Amino acid sequence: MVEITKESILSGVMPKHIAIIMDGNGRWAKERGMARTMGHKRGAETLREIVKSAGELGVKAITAYAFSTENWKRPEYEVNFLMNLLDIYLTSELDKLNKHQVKIMFSGDLAKLPEAVRLRAERTVGATAQNTGLVLNLAVNYGGQAEILRAVQNITFAAMENKITPQQIDEALFEQYLYTKNLPALDLLIRPGGDMRISNFLLWQMAYAEIWFTGDYWPDVTPNHLYRAIYDFQRRDRRFGALNTGKQV
Ligand code: FPP
Repeated sequence: MVEITKESILSGVMPKHIAIIMDGNGRWAKERGMARTMGHKRGAETLREIVKSAGELGVKAITAYAFSTENWKRPEYEVNFLMNLLDIYLTSELDKLNKHQVKIMFSGDLAKLPEAVRLRAERTVGATAQNTGLVLNLAVNYGGQAEILRAVQNITFAAMENKITPQQIDEALFEQYLYTKNLPALDLLIRPGGDMRISNFLLWQMAYAEIWFTGDYWPDVTPNHLYRAIYDFQRRDRRFGALNTGKQV
């Protein structure tokens, strides 16, 4: 991959909100004769580096897919490992998150997490709530279809209580019922690991996002991948269904 310098993308349009499917941890570990869980551990380090670089570039938000509603189907030891890793990550990173003004939020149903992890998540949200830099939105026990159904249910309740009328339900109102309601629109999805699919991630938010794939595994992803993804993003012609408007750069 050709090196892209940070300077060469700083003058272009910066994506405000980037989503990442952190895929390939298991294969990364297997290729090294290590347990899959070691890939997740390394993946957590990659996330730290990417968040730091994105913050320096002025990206406003990163949504990282840490645990999907389908991931409960994995072996119990792997599920437990991922839950513990989240707990450890949030505990050990807190000082650094505050130092770099990173604000943590979550998307997903946290009620199903082990209580200690849920409490840690809630405490971290509280402890970083005043930070003014990049928002790191961790998608945990998250599924795009579940998020849409949750919105539909809550909108239905609001209508039944006469707080809204069916005629008021439009895209803007619907978005207020999504976990991401306070985040900028999604600009870019990055998926390492070689698979070219969405995997039930941010289905609504993906409507006009650009998608950038790499075959490299998530633990091998570096800030240079991020620069390259943004460089390519800046050269795409985002038409939002309209006619050619010229490049964004
Ligand atoms: C997919 O790789 C990755 C996951 C299911 C978990 C992602 C979690 C982390 C990177 C941990 C870091 C995050 C936090 C917040 C602690 P895979 O296991 O499906 O890989 P494979 O496709 O190679 O098997």
